[in-house]
Amino acid sequence: MTQSREVLAMMDAHTTTFGRKRGCTISRCGGFLLGALFVLCLVATGLLVYHFAPCLNGRSVTINGSNDPRDDTMMETARSFSASTANKKKIDVRLPRSIVPHSYELKLIPFIWEGNFTFHGEVRILVNVTQDTENVTLHAVDMKIDENHTSIREYSSTAGASVNRTLKIDCQKNDTARQFHIIQTTDTLKKGKQYTVYLKFTGYLNDYLQGFYRSSYTVGNQTRWIATTQFQATDARRAFPCFDEPALKASFQISIARPKNMTSISNMPRKGEPQPVSGIPNYLWDHYERSVPMSTYLVAFIVSDFEVLRSPSGNFSVWARSEAINQSLYSLDIGPKVLEYFEDYFKIKFPLPKMDMVALPDFSAGAMENWGLITYRETAMLYQEGVSTSSNQQRVATVVSHELAHQWFGNLVTPSWWTDLWLNEGFASYVEYIGMNAVEPKWKVLEQFVVHELQNVFSLDALESSHPISIEVGHPDEISEIFDRISYGKGASIIRMMDHFLTTEVFKRGLTNYLNSKAYRSAEQNDLWEALTKQAHKDGVLSSDKTVKEIMDTWTLQTGFPVVTVIRDYNRGSASLTQERFMLRNGTTVVEYKEKPKWWIPITYTTESSKNFGITRPSHWMEAETSLTLPNLGANSSQWVIFNVQETGYYRVNYDKTNWQLIIKQLNNVMFRDIGTINRAQLIDDALNLARAGRLDYTTALDVTSYLAHETEYLPWKAALTAMGYLDNMLIKFPGYDKFRIHALKLLDNVYKQTGFKDTPGDPQLTVFTRIDVLSWACSFGHEDCVRNAVTQFHNWRNAPNPDKNNPVSPNLKSVVYCTAMRAGGEAEWDFAWQRYLKTNVGSEKDLLLNALGCTRETWILSRYLDWAITDNSGIRKQDAARVFGSVANNVIGQPLAFNFLRNKWARLKEYFGTSLLTINNIVKSSTKRMNTRFELKDLLEFVTEHREELGTATRTVQQAMEQAEANIRWLERNHATIREWLNRNTA
Ligand SMILES: *[C@@H]1O[C@H](CO)[C@@H](O)[C@H](O)[C@H]1NC(C)=O
Ligand SMILES: *[C@@H]1O[C@H](CO)[C@@H](O)[C@H](O)[C@H]1NC(C)=O
Ligand SMILES: [Zn+2]
Repeated sequence: MTQSREVLAMMDAHTTTFGRKRGCTISRCGGFLLGALFVLCLVATGLLVYHFAPCLNGRSVTINGSNDPRDDTMMETARSFSASTANKKKIDVRLPRSIVPHSYELKLIPFIWEGNFTFHGEVRILVNVTQDTENVTLHAVDMKIDENHTSIREYSSTAGASVNRTLKIDCQKNDTARQFHIIQTTDTLKKGKQYTVYLKFTGYLNDYLQGFYRSSYTVGNQTRWIATTQFQATDARRAFPCFDEPALKASFQISIARPKNMTSISNMPRKGEPQPVSGIPNYLWDHYERSVPMSTYLVAFIVSDFEVLRSPSGNFSVWARSEAINQSLYSLDIGPKVLEYFEDYFKIKFPLPKMDMVALPDFSAGAMENWGLITYRETAMLYQEGVSTSSNQQRVATVVSHELAHQWFGNLVTPSWWTDLWLNEGFASYVEYIGMNAVEPKWKVLEQFVVHELQNVFSLDALESSHPISIEVGHPDEISEIFDRISYGKGASIIRMMDHFLTTEVFKRGLTNYLNSKAYRSAEQNDLWEALTKQAHKDGVLSSDKTVKEIMDTWTLQTGFPVVTVIRDYNRGSASLTQERFMLRNGTTVVEYKEKPKWWIPITYTTESSKNFGITRPSHWMEAETSLTLPNLGANSSQWVIFNVQETGYYRVNYDKTNWQLIIKQLNNVMFRDIGTINRAQLIDDALNLARAGRLDYTTALDVTSYLAHETEYLPWKAALTAMGYLDNMLIKFPGYDKFRIHALKLLDNVYKQTGFKDTPGDPQLTVFTRIDVLSWACSFGHEDCVRNAVTQFHNWRNAPNPDKNNPVSPNLKSVVYCTAMRAGGEAEWDFAWQRYLKTNVGSEKDLLLNALGCTRETWILSRYLDWAITDNSGIRKQDAARVFGSVANNVIGQPLAFNFLRNKWARLKEYFGTSLLTINNIVKSSTKRMNTRFELKDLLEFVTEHREELGTATRTVQQAMEQAEANIRWLERNHATIREWLNRNTA
């Protein structure tokens, strides 16, 4: 799955609308069990409380430096809150292993019209029995199973059919907490035998974007409906009864009935001609070929009136609503190329006979890698030349490449359980860059990786409330919670590190062996480590006493990441390296460990005399040891050294003061490009974040950034603007901010002149990206030329004869022009933009406008905008609500509005988004990020205390928000004065 940019997912454990009747008589199945369970529960709760309660307080303590005892109480509240919610979910939700599915025959008839929206289904599952048992237990949620039709028959593989013996069913019941449907039999299912299990059921095409759900769009005044699926992670069970765990692979033979005037598609190609559906006029059956063995979460089917475009070879197709089908040309162009590239990369042919990609108007995530039928939200697959931006285009390439990579890594070989989700997602999030680089080599995406993934996830992973990427999960809420930046971004970053320390050749060979040995089956991270170790030993890149597992376990099982501190001995020419976990709240708290975490760190470095920024294979390892001495660096005392070449290691580096000064000297020299681009970005990001964590004085860190006055490249600027974004957020409400603005504008002056306010066709991707970032900062600081240009261009659009057809603003400048015009303008400008939003047919344009609409300074408009975000039929889709909140909260006057809205409309938000609250995650995140005063933190805590029982999957986000706010407060206390002094000196 690809995350949506704002919304991780918008799922919901919505309570069923169907009653659960019949079931077992209490006396036979349930009574005893219930009683036993009750007693067990009492005992268990007691035990839990007894055993776990003492652990709740102790994870970390605030050390003395705190000047306000109230903080401790506040943070204590926060911690016990998170711990108390953790215990609730400890029921074993795994299926019994006595029965495993072998194949499914699934038939579904969806009724896709207002007033109905139900579907009828039948499933026949051929199962193998591995242990004698008297029940068949499978998953089913939110559906009505017609129990009179349930049957279990013995199956004879020699006869190729069910033999006559039908097993006697005692009763059937639902275990709602586990989402099980249990068929209790009187006869025993015998080990070694096969049986067919038949179930008939009715479900509901929901509008919560999960399971088998409905989506719609309008043409003129007419609403067109679509029935589609999203099953990852645990929602196949909402569409049909099944063994819904990733390791339980089976083949699927699917039949979908659909109205004559629509089409259906599924994972496999259609078999034969459509057949009439008896009893339902104007409906036809599409029967699909049997699939290869696969996990339930990868099953997909769609009924729509979409149009299709096919590749020249005919087996790669793209689907979209007819008005948007032309926007799919770009993905149709790159899709087959990337697929072919991955066949070569993995050295394994794509195993399915066809590939379909579909752009859906309503989609919770960014995209989903269903085998042979990838689904996307429109903005992740559609690109309209002349309307969409370069960054939209790169987004499409990224997501297409990500989902195609999953066809091997994830689909062919699947994690045995969601604990290894990070491996699946981290891997796809890394090789998406490699696939994209193959088709768009000019974009330099392998360089972009460092600022967009690695540095990006550092900021989250530096929080105490971060988590190890490999994490025990059970309950569906816990599973959806780990589809987060840590699994994706950190996963990708440590896999990239591995690619570099093993060397790409060894990495790829090991990978191919792993995929071949586990094809059509499931695997665990240790299986991959083993395959890579074997290859690494064979090719001699790892000495025989080292294993990939030993190295990687320190990165996957421990939370956070290290900072390596390099202290040089300038007389001896040596250096001593130490490692420690890097945390943003460093200096104000200590985490109490049984043992301090240590990592296996690949060490690479270069010196002023060699300036070799090309070698990324480590010369040394810190073998999970606290310190390491390098006897001879090969640099004399007036030459700098820089560690972590190309930032391929997932760690930060700090130096002694002299080395920092030597680096600063080089940066301020005309020859600053002697330091490689990625490492310039690294130095800025490391320096500003080390300072933020109290490990480097701000004077030095800000001195590192001074050279930006000459810098024109994207990576260093991206790193700088992100890190300076933090300063901006912190300082904006306080006196002295004017100096920050003057300083930033001074740094931007040269690069602004270089890039200019003009979108020049043929500019390299990175120049375009630099321009957008530079302009949006300059305009937001009120840079005169910038604001004037933006306002003029918007004005020209408003005066264009038919603004919906003629937009004179060039695509890449739209974000700056729209936002600046909203900020400088009033109601008239806003209404104009809103009308364009409603009318445009291009998803990426809608996104741009939604972002800009939050830039207005009219408070009442912002409030109304928030209201519309959660109003049915306002024009804002549910999938886009988080974007609205993000854009309002990004605006300094909008943030308190957004937070108050969250507090005041909590009940309504829950009702609108459902109980799993993943959208609310994003709302919480955006509306709290500038909090840096005690009063704000108090408000946040009050809110949390009030709703602690209802936070669900938003729990960790809320925890992170509180930690962040607390860190901000302390940061301001510690650094505000120093920074003001530095700014005063440097803006004089
Ligand atoms: C089920 O049993 C059959 C016959 O013994 C065997 O061929 C098949 O591989 C088994 N399938 C699974 C999923 O265990
Ligand atoms: C939906 O339509 C089907 C086919 O006409 C019908 O059998 C079913 O009862 C309808 N369901 C509802 C809830 O209207
Ligand atoms: Zn993915």
